Amino acid sequence: MSGHYSDFVLAVMDTAVTLFIFLIGAAILAVLVLYVIDVTQTTHAIRRNYPVIGRLRYWFEHLGQYFRQYFFAMDREEMPFNREQRSWVYRAAKGGDNTVAFGSTRDLRPSGTIIFVNCPFPTQEQDAAPASALTIGAGCDRPYTAKSLINISAMSFGALSKVAIEALSNGARMAGCWHNTGEGGLSPYHLAGGADLVFQIGTAKYGARNEEGALCDIKLRELAAHEQVRMFEIKLSQGAKPGKGGILPAAKVTAEIAAIRGIPAGQASISPNRFDEVNSPEELLDLIDRVRRVTGKPVGFKCVLGAYGWLEELCEMINKRGIASAPDFITVDSADGGSGAAPMSLIDAMGLPISESLPKVVDILCAAGLRGRIRVIASGKLVNPINVAWALCAGSDFVQSARGFMLAIGCIQAMQCNKNTCPTGITTHNPKLQHGLVPADKAVRVANFVHNMVHEVGTIAHSCGVSEPRKLRRYHARIVCEGGASLPLDEIYPEVPPRAA
Ligand SMILES: Cc1cc2nc3c(=O)[nH]c(=O)nc-3n(C[C@H](O)[C@H](O)[C@H](O)COP(=O)(O)O)c2cc1C
Ligand code: SF4
Repeated sequence: MSGHYSDFVLAVMDTAVTLFIFLIGAAILAVLVLYVIDVTQTTHAIRRNYPVIGRLRYWFEHLGQYFRQYFFAMDREEMPFNREQRSWVYRAAKGGDNTVAFGSTRDLRPSGTIIFVNCPFPTQEQDAAPASALTIGAGCDRPYTAKSLINISAMSFGALSKVAIEALSNGARMAGCWHNTGEGGLSPYHLAGGADLVFQIGTAKYGARNEEGALCDIKLRELAAHEQVRMFEIKLSQGAKPGKGGILPAAKVTAEIAAIRGIPAGQASISPNRFDEVNSPEELLDLIDRVRRVTGKPVGFKCVLGAYGWLEELCEMINKRGIASAPDFITVDSADGGSGAAPMSLIDAMGLPISESLPKVVDILCAAGLRGRIRVIASGKLVNPINVAWALCAGSDFVQSARGFMLAIGCIQAMQCNKNTCPTGITTHNPKLQHGLVPADKAVRVANFVHNMVHEVGTIAHSCGVSEPRKLRRYHARIVCEGGASLPLDEIYPEVPPRAA
């Protein structure tokens, strides 16, 4: 018995030694092969000069973007969102305690820092009111009374996975906010949650075009027939890529997405950089008028502001044509807004940030006597209560977020949204990666995020002494300027007294 046992042990050891020698041999052979490949190739200098070992540089560079945020970056250091900003969203989405202890880690000295002006006699609980619902497009056949201050900004089915869209649409229903379809058309996943939807008409008119690619009234009527579709948003431009249409890389154009958009599968989906039929403020009003007549629902447009003389011209033209011709809303997107995929020069350097463009748009509307007619929606890194409250002080009626909601459903800022390899299942169509995202669970986080955001913006409003967030005014916010002293927002951007239209 013991003889058999020792034979068995010897045989196992023999095999293990052979395997070990084989693996070492294979590893040496692999290194030799890589060495020969590296010294003979001519494209990478590092690999030619430091064969084999030089390859580690690429690996570390790749891993660096993941490890930096955990080990090396300070809490308030990273872009686009630092750890503090992300953590606030994660905590709000989980619905847990969102208080912090001991003291603030926020440096109040850099210029651009937002601070609010507390009132010596803050609003008491019994005087506090929830942000009231606000009607958009009161003159339309079917106006929309929007309940939520915070809403989900445009992100298409295509840029996002079906599970992400399901989580957002269910969460939006639970929170009572709207969910913008983005420019990729209306998918069954948008409808599944039962939330209010804003249908976005991008320059390629996906989901609303005929076979020749032109805007189709029959399709518009079909879309408007969905009770859930409450408004239509014409997308002139997006903060991350003004002057460039939507980009969906080929790897993400699955058969289902291609069918919804009416394009070939497996080929990149690139929208034109503007609407063929809109070449002037006048033609923009024509398009708004057409969509509103056909659908009977509020119609507005989204843009990032760069030049703004055209907006003043648009307002003049509205006053000539009559106030009914105005867009029902304008979505002002920030130059530092997000995107599924965008050219670096545009994402980094094109257009005005919301800090400048929002007060400008509000002032232009006030000067033209149109502030009461056109609702203003602001978007662009408004993912924490401070930024949302600032946007309300600056004059917006509603706030939208895209990446705030992505973080709420688990985004870890891996920044591979254009690669179809999103590790959290949000921006990938790989079913294995989507497996991790459970829509029912994440929908609750979407709703928690909205509720906690509204609650904390309310807290800021009450500390400023007003009863609800929409009563915040420019004088409630101050901006730290060069030298460290702050100035009130209404001194930096003096409010234009509204004139009668
Ligand atoms: C993944 C992704 C997809 C987007 N898709 C669209 C789109 O289809 N149409 C659009 O107008 N904006 C799109 N955007 C821009 C957002 O709607 C929003 O304007 C911008 O990201 C600013 O908001 P945020 O800073 O809260 O993300 C997208 C953004 C992201 C991150
Ligand atoms: S985890 Fe990364 S790839 Fe996925 S949505 Fe977030 S930033 Fe994009």
